[in-house]
Amino acid sequence: MIEVAGLTVRFGGVTSLDDMSLTFESGTCGLIGPNGAGKTTFFNVLSGFVRPAAGTVRAFGDDLLGMVHFRRARWGLRRTFQTEQAIEQLSVFDNVALIHEHAKLSTTSRRKDVLDAIAFVGLTASPSAKVATLAAGQRRLVELARAVVGRPKLVLLDEPAAGLPDDETEHMASVIRQIPEQSAALTILVDHDMSLVSACCQTTAVLDFGRLIAVGPTAEVLRDERVMRAYLGTAEV
Ligand SMILES: Nc1ncnc2c1ncn2[C@@H]1O[C@H](COP(=O)(O)OP(=O)(O)OP(=O)(O)O)[C@@H](O)[C@H]1O
Ligand SMILES: [Mg+2]
Repeated sequence: MIEVAGLTVRFGGVTSLDDMSLTFESGTCGLIGPNGAGKTTFFNVLSGFVRPAAGTVRAFGDDLLGMVHFRRARWGLRRTFQTEQAIEQLSVFDNVALIHEHAKLSTTSRRKDVLDAIAFVGLTASPSAKVATLAAGQRRLVELARAVVGRPKLVLLDEPAAGLPDDETEHMASVIRQIPEQSAALTILVDHDMSLVSACCQTTAVLDFGRLIAVGPTAEVLRDERVMRAYLGTAEV
Protein backbone atom coordinates (compact mmCIF):
# COMPACT_ATOMS: atom_id res chain seq x y z
CA MET A 1 0.00 0.00 0.00
CA ILE A 2 1.20 3.50 -0.81
CA GLU A 3 -0.21 6.60 0.86
CA VAL A 4 0.59 9.98 -0.62
CA ALA A 5 -0.44 13.13 1.25
CA GLY A 6 -0.17 16.75 0.20
CA LEU A 7 2.67 16.13 -2.26
CA THR A 8 3.80 19.34 -3.94
CA VAL A 9 6.70 19.82 -6.34
CA ARG A 10 7.77 23.13 -7.84
CA PHE A 11 10.34 23.89 -10.48
CA GLY A 12 10.76 27.65 -10.47
CA GLY A 13 7.35 29.00 -11.43
CA VAL A 14 5.94 25.63 -12.48
CA THR A 15 3.97 23.57 -9.98
CA SER A 16 4.46 20.05 -11.33
CA LEU A 17 2.60 18.38 -8.47
CA ASP A 18 0.00 20.37 -6.62
CA ASP A 19 -1.07 19.04 -3.22
CA MET A 20 -1.42 15.47 -4.51
CA SER A 21 -3.06 13.02 -2.09
CA LEU A 22 -3.70 9.44 -3.10
CA THR A 23 -3.83 5.91 -1.77
CA PHE A 24 -3.14 2.85 -3.88
CA GLU A 25 -3.95 -0.36 -2.02
CA SER A 26 -2.47 -3.23 -4.00
CA GLY A 27 -2.07 -4.86 -7.39
CA THR A 28 -1.36 -2.82 -10.50
CA CYS A 29 -2.63 0.75 -10.39
CA GLY A 30 -2.75 3.18 -13.28
CA LEU A 31 -1.58 6.78 -13.33
CA ILE A 32 -2.57 8.71 -16.41
CA GLY A 33 -2.82 12.29 -17.61
CA PRO A 34 -1.88 14.49 -20.56
CA ASN A 35 1.73 15.39 -21.41
CA GLY A 36 3.31 17.45 -18.66
CA ALA A 37 0.69 16.43 -16.08
CA GLY A 38 3.34 15.43 -13.52
CA LYS A 39 3.40 11.62 -13.83
CA THR A 40 7.15 11.27 -14.25
CA THR A 41 7.70 13.92 -11.61
CA PHE A 42 5.72 11.73 -9.20
CA PHE A 43 7.98 8.77 -10.01
CA ASN A 44 11.03 11.01 -9.59
CA VAL A 45 9.85 11.94 -6.10
CA LEU A 46 9.29 8.29 -5.17
CA SER A 47 12.70 7.26 -6.45
CA GLY A 48 14.46 10.22 -4.83
CA PHE A 49 15.55 12.24 -7.87
CA VAL A 50 13.30 15.13 -6.96
CA ARG A 51 12.73 16.55 -3.49
CA PRO A 52 9.19 17.79 -2.95
CA ALA A 53 8.40 21.19 -1.47
CA ALA A 54 5.80 19.53 0.77
CA GLY A 55 4.06 16.24 1.42
CA THR A 56 4.63 12.72 2.67
CA VAL A 57 4.72 9.27 1.12
CA ARG A 58 4.29 6.10 3.13
CA ALA A 59 4.85 2.82 1.35
CA PHE A 60 3.99 -0.38 3.21
CA GLY A 61 4.15 1.71 6.38
CA ASP A 62 7.64 3.08 5.71
CA ASP A 63 8.41 6.76 5.26
CA LEU A 64 9.78 6.64 1.72
CA LEU A 65 10.87 10.30 1.53
CA GLY A 66 12.82 9.90 4.76
CA MET A 67 14.97 7.23 3.10
CA VAL A 68 18.17 8.25 1.33
CA HIS A 69 17.59 7.63 -2.39
CA PHE A 70 20.19 4.86 -2.76
CA ARG A 71 18.54 2.94 0.09
CA ARG A 72 15.23 2.87 -1.74
CA ALA A 73 16.45 0.20 -4.19
CA ARG A 74 17.48 -1.95 -1.26
CA TRP A 75 14.12 -1.34 0.38
CA GLY A 76 12.45 -2.70 -2.77
CA LEU A 77 11.78 0.19 -5.13
CA ARG A 78 12.31 -0.40 -8.85
CA ARG A 79 11.42 1.71 -11.84
CA THR A 80 11.64 1.99 -15.58
CA PHE A 81 12.25 5.22 -17.44
CA GLN A 82 10.70 6.71 -20.57
CA THR A 83 14.10 6.30 -22.19
CA GLU A 84 15.88 2.94 -22.18
CA GLN A 85 18.43 2.50 -19.43
CA ALA A 86 19.96 -0.86 -20.35
CA ILE A 87 23.60 -0.71 -21.38
CA GLU A 88 23.84 -1.82 -25.00
CA GLN A 89 27.33 -3.32 -24.78
CA LEU A 90 26.36 -5.59 -21.89
CA SER A 91 24.41 -8.82 -22.06
CA VAL A 92 20.78 -9.14 -20.99
CA PHE A 93 21.96 -11.09 -17.93
CA ASP A 94 24.51 -8.44 -16.87
CA ASN A 95 22.01 -5.64 -17.34
CA VAL A 96 19.52 -7.29 -15.00
CA ALA A 97 22.29 -8.37 -12.60
CA LEU A 98 23.42 -4.73 -12.28
CA ILE A 99 20.09 -3.83 -10.69
CA HIS A 100 20.29 -6.84 -8.36
CA GLU A 101 23.75 -5.70 -7.32
CA HIS A 102 22.68 -2.09 -6.91
CA ALA A 103 19.85 -3.23 -4.63
CA LYS A 104 22.47 -5.09 -2.58
CA LEU A 105 20.54 -8.34 -2.73
CA SER A 106 22.17 -11.61 -1.76
CA THR A 107 24.89 -12.72 -4.17
CA THR A 108 23.98 -16.34 -3.42
CA SER A 109 20.62 -16.00 -5.13
CA ARG A 110 21.78 -13.52 -7.80
CA ARG A 111 22.06 -15.92 -10.73
CA LYS A 112 18.70 -17.53 -10.03
CA ASP A 113 16.93 -14.22 -9.40
CA VAL A 114 18.26 -12.73 -12.62
CA LEU A 115 17.34 -15.75 -14.72
CA ASP A 116 13.90 -15.87 -13.06
CA ALA A 117 13.25 -12.22 -13.97
CA ILE A 118 14.35 -12.80 -17.57
CA ALA A 119 12.10 -15.86 -17.84
CA PHE A 120 9.21 -14.05 -16.15
CA VAL A 121 9.07 -11.28 -18.75
CA GLY A 122 9.12 -13.87 -21.55
CA LEU A 123 12.32 -12.78 -23.25
CA THR A 124 13.08 -15.15 -26.08
CA ALA A 125 16.59 -13.77 -26.59
CA SER A 126 19.42 -15.58 -24.86
CA PRO A 127 20.49 -14.09 -21.51
CA SER A 128 23.99 -13.88 -22.95
CA ALA A 129 22.90 -11.78 -25.96
CA LYS A 130 24.14 -8.20 -25.99
CA VAL A 131 21.29 -5.70 -25.64
CA ALA A 132 22.57 -3.87 -28.74
CA THR A 133 21.60 -6.89 -30.87
CA LEU A 134 17.97 -6.99 -29.66
CA ALA A 135 14.83 -5.69 -31.38
CA ALA A 136 12.82 -2.89 -29.75
CA GLY A 137 10.24 -5.18 -28.12
CA GLN A 138 12.90 -7.40 -26.56
CA ARG A 139 14.77 -4.36 -25.26
CA ARG A 140 11.60 -3.15 -23.58
CA LEU A 141 11.33 -6.54 -21.88
CA VAL A 142 14.89 -6.14 -20.59
CA GLU A 143 13.80 -2.86 -18.99
CA LEU A 144 10.87 -4.69 -17.42
CA ALA A 145 13.10 -7.53 -16.17
CA ARG A 146 15.30 -4.91 -14.48
CA ALA A 147 12.18 -3.58 -12.75
CA VAL A 148 11.01 -6.91 -11.34
CA VAL A 149 14.25 -8.62 -10.37
CA GLY A 150 14.64 -9.72 -6.76
CA ARG A 151 11.12 -9.49 -5.39
CA PRO A 152 10.59 -5.71 -5.25
CA LYS A 153 7.92 -4.04 -3.08
CA LEU A 154 7.11 -1.13 -5.35
CA VAL A 155 7.45 -1.20 -9.15
CA LEU A 156 7.09 2.04 -11.14
CA LEU A 157 6.61 1.65 -14.88
CA ASP A 158 6.91 4.83 -16.96
CA GLU A 159 5.37 4.15 -20.39
CA PRO A 160 6.87 0.65 -20.65
CA ALA A 161 5.19 -0.15 -23.97
CA ALA A 162 5.53 3.20 -25.72
CA GLY A 163 6.06 2.73 -29.45
CA LEU A 164 5.47 -1.03 -29.46
CA PRO A 165 3.10 -2.71 -31.93
CA ASP A 166 -0.20 -4.11 -30.61
CA ASP A 167 0.89 -7.74 -30.23
CA GLU A 168 3.95 -6.77 -28.22
CA THR A 169 1.90 -4.38 -26.09
CA GLU A 170 -0.49 -7.25 -25.36
CA HIS A 171 2.39 -9.44 -24.26
CA MET A 172 3.68 -6.60 -22.08
CA ALA A 173 0.20 -6.29 -20.53
CA SER A 174 0.06 -9.99 -19.71
CA VAL A 175 3.44 -9.76 -17.96
CA ILE A 176 2.56 -6.59 -16.04
CA ARG A 177 -0.67 -8.19 -14.82
CA GLN A 178 1.36 -11.00 -13.26
CA ILE A 179 3.81 -8.78 -11.35
CA PRO A 180 1.76 -8.52 -8.13
CA GLU A 181 1.52 -12.30 -8.03
CA GLN A 182 5.17 -12.85 -8.89
CA SER A 183 6.64 -10.51 -6.28
CA ALA A 184 3.73 -9.26 -4.14
CA ALA A 185 4.74 -5.79 -5.35
CA LEU A 186 2.47 -2.83 -5.76
CA THR A 187 2.90 -1.71 -9.36
CA ILE A 188 2.13 1.76 -10.68
CA LEU A 189 1.72 1.95 -14.43
CA VAL A 190 2.02 5.26 -16.26
CA ASP A 191 0.96 5.09 -19.87
CA HIS A 192 -0.85 6.98 -22.61
CA ASP A 193 -2.21 3.72 -24.06
CA MET A 194 -5.64 3.39 -22.44
CA SER A 195 -6.05 -0.17 -23.67
CA LEU A 196 -2.89 -1.14 -21.78
CA VAL A 197 -4.03 0.70 -18.64
CA SER A 198 -7.49 -0.88 -18.88
CA ALA A 199 -5.99 -4.33 -19.38
CA CYS A 200 -3.66 -4.04 -16.36
CA CYS A 201 -5.22 -1.75 -13.78
CA GLN A 202 -8.33 -2.10 -11.63
CA THR A 203 -7.74 1.32 -10.11
CA THR A 204 -6.54 4.39 -11.99
CA ALA A 205 -5.70 7.93 -10.94
CA VAL A 206 -5.57 10.95 -13.22
CA LEU A 207 -3.27 13.95 -13.02
CA ASP A 208 -3.82 17.18 -14.91
CA PHE A 209 -1.44 20.14 -14.51
CA GLY A 210 -0.11 18.52 -11.33
CA ARG A 211 -3.53 18.11 -9.77
CA LEU A 212 -5.21 14.82 -9.05
CA ILE A 213 -8.56 15.15 -10.81
CA ALA A 214 -9.95 11.62 -10.50
CA VAL A 215 -9.26 8.25 -8.94
CA GLY A 216 -11.29 5.05 -8.86
CA PRO A 217 -12.14 1.95 -10.89
CA THR A 218 -10.41 2.32 -14.28
CA ALA A 219 -13.52 2.00 -16.47
CA GLU A 220 -15.36 4.66 -14.43
CA VAL A 221 -12.39 7.01 -14.41
CA LEU A 222 -12.00 6.76 -18.19
CA ARG A 223 -15.66 7.75 -18.59
CA ASP A 224 -15.34 10.69 -16.18
CA GLU A 225 -16.13 14.00 -17.85
CA ARG A 226 -13.29 15.84 -16.10
CA VAL A 227 -10.87 13.26 -17.41
CA MET A 228 -12.14 13.50 -20.97
CA ARG A 229 -11.97 17.28 -20.73
CA ALA A 230 -8.36 17.11 -19.52
CA TYR A 231 -7.42 14.98 -22.52
CA LEU A 232 -9.27 17.22 -24.94
CA GLY A 233 -7.42 20.17 -23.44
CA THR A 234 -10.44 22.36 -22.85
CA ALA A 235 -10.54 24.19 -19.55
CA GLU A 236 -14.32 24.30 -19.14
CA VAL A 237 -17.29 22.58 -20.74
N1 LIG B 1 13.67 18.88 -13.74
C1 LIG B 1 12.71 19.73 -14.13
N2 LIG B 1 12.95 21.04 -14.22
C2 LIG B 1 11.98 21.91 -14.60
N3 LIG B 1 10.73 21.54 -14.92
C3 LIG B 1 10.44 20.25 -14.87
C4 LIG B 1 11.40 19.25 -14.47
N4 LIG B 1 10.81 18.03 -14.50
C5 LIG B 1 9.54 18.24 -14.89
N5 LIG B 1 9.32 19.56 -15.12
C6 LIG B 1 8.03 20.16 -15.54
O1 LIG B 1 7.02 19.60 -14.72
C7 LIG B 1 5.83 19.35 -15.48
C8 LIG B 1 5.48 17.87 -15.37
O2 LIG B 1 6.42 17.10 -16.12
P1 LIG B 1 6.41 15.51 -16.14
O3 LIG B 1 7.63 15.09 -16.90
O4 LIG B 1 6.26 15.02 -14.77
O5 LIG B 1 5.10 15.21 -16.98
P2 LIG B 1 4.51 13.81 -17.48
O6 LIG B 1 3.13 13.72 -16.96
O7 LIG B 1 5.45 12.71 -17.18
O8 LIG B 1 4.43 14.05 -19.07
P3 LIG B 1 4.66 13.00 -20.31
O9 LIG B 1 3.37 12.29 -20.49
O10 LIG B 1 4.92 13.93 -21.47
O11 LIG B 1 5.81 12.14 -19.99
C9 LIG B 1 6.13 19.83 -16.90
O12 LIG B 1 5.66 21.15 -17.01
C10 LIG B 1 7.64 19.80 -16.97
O13 LIG B 1 8.13 20.72 -17.89
MG1 LIG C 1 6.53 11.43 -18.29
